[in-house]
Amino acid sequence: MHFTRTLQCTLSLASLVASSPFTSERRDVASTTWQTPATSTASSGTPCPTTPEAGTYCGFINPEDPCAPQPGGQGPTMVPDTVEAFVNYIPFQSMSLNNVYAPGYTTIFKNLTKAAWNIDNYIGLYYLDTYNPSACADKCNAVSGCNSFNVYVERDPSQNPTKNDSTAPTVWGYWCPNPPSMTNYKCALWGNGIYNSSATNSGQYRGGDFQVMIAGSNAFVKTGYFDTATYQNGTASVPTSGMPQPSSSIVPFTGAANTITKSSVWSVCAFILAVLMAL
Ligand SMILES: *[C@@H]1O[C@H](CO)[C@@H](O)[C@H](O)[C@H]1NC(C)=O
Ligand SMILES: *[C@@H]1O[C@H](CO)[C@@H](O)[C@H](O)[C@H]1NC(C)=O
Ligand SMILES: *[C@@H]1O[C@H](CO)[C@@H](O)[C@H](O)[C@H]1NC(C)=O
Ligand SMILES: *[C@@H]1O[C@H](CO)[C@@H](O)[C@H](O)[C@H]1NC(C)=O
Repeated sequence: MHFTRTLQCTLSLASLVASSPFTSERRDVASTTWQTPATSTASSGTPCPTTPEAGTYCGFINPEDPCAPQPGGQGPTMVPDTVEAFVNYIPFQSMSLNNVYAPGYTTIFKNLTKAAWNIDNYIGLYYLDTYNPSACADKCNAVSGCNSFNVYVERDPSQNPTKNDSTAPTVWGYWCPNPPSMTNYKCALWGNGIYNSSATNSGQYRGGDFQVMIAGSNAFVKTGYFDTATYQNGTASVPTSGMPQPSSSIVPFTGAANTITKSSVWSVCAFILAVLMAL
């Protein structure tokens, strides 16, 4: 099974490289992230399993396709696979409570089951290998205009939940209304500050049946960026206009951490393809 998946994945990547849509700089991204040499299978003439979508290449995994594997999955799998097990999983709470320091930042809140949400200030989202505020701080420091960030654990679907409600081409089927969950460590970057009152994203349903859930949410703001008294007070204004309803407030996947350590071959593949697609 794994071999088949590895092969499929390698072929996908090989056909991607063979089609050469990228600059050499972008290919560097793939080669530094993906350690398996693709050259041995680059000459494979594998036909596309489906008609490629406009703007994509044969073999691509589009995470938005029906039932497509989703990127990430660095955290542990819950047993039983329920929302309750996720929320009550003590290690997530411990990670959060034990990681309340990031150099150069002030901690705003910790161990919440809600993530910050303020679409007006959204910069981007990274998937982390571990629950690591310092790694997220590094991401924020690298972006001009980033002044706060939120690290949290998220219960996500392992496939894009679908209920026979799409006709988009897919090789993954159309019926996966409540797929097995996987756990992601996320790092969201924000322009303006995060306040206690910004923690409004408590997850949502995807595809009708799969419940996204947040745990261990910690927020940090650049020390000195805001008036500390106002922060402690928690009343500083955060723009709320343009806020989406919870059902549509899924933060889009826009980036990823540099290394993957604990995920399956398949999620690594899906992840890399997703990253390449995002370029
Ligand atoms: C904000 O949350 C933190 C902990 O998460 C808490 O210590 C603090 O009192 C809260 N501030 C306000 C204004 O509610
Ligand atoms: C951490 O969050 C969980 C989930 O809301 C809660 O049950 C637990 O009491 C919190 N722990 C602390 C120390 O705040
Ligand atoms: C979903 O669609 C397929 C193909 O049309 C059909 O065979 C299947 O029964 C449908 N499943 C459900 C639960 O409606
Ligand atoms: C919080 O700050 C606002 C604005 O500075 C102020 O009007 C309000 O009285 C403060 N509230 C508390 C409880 O300190």
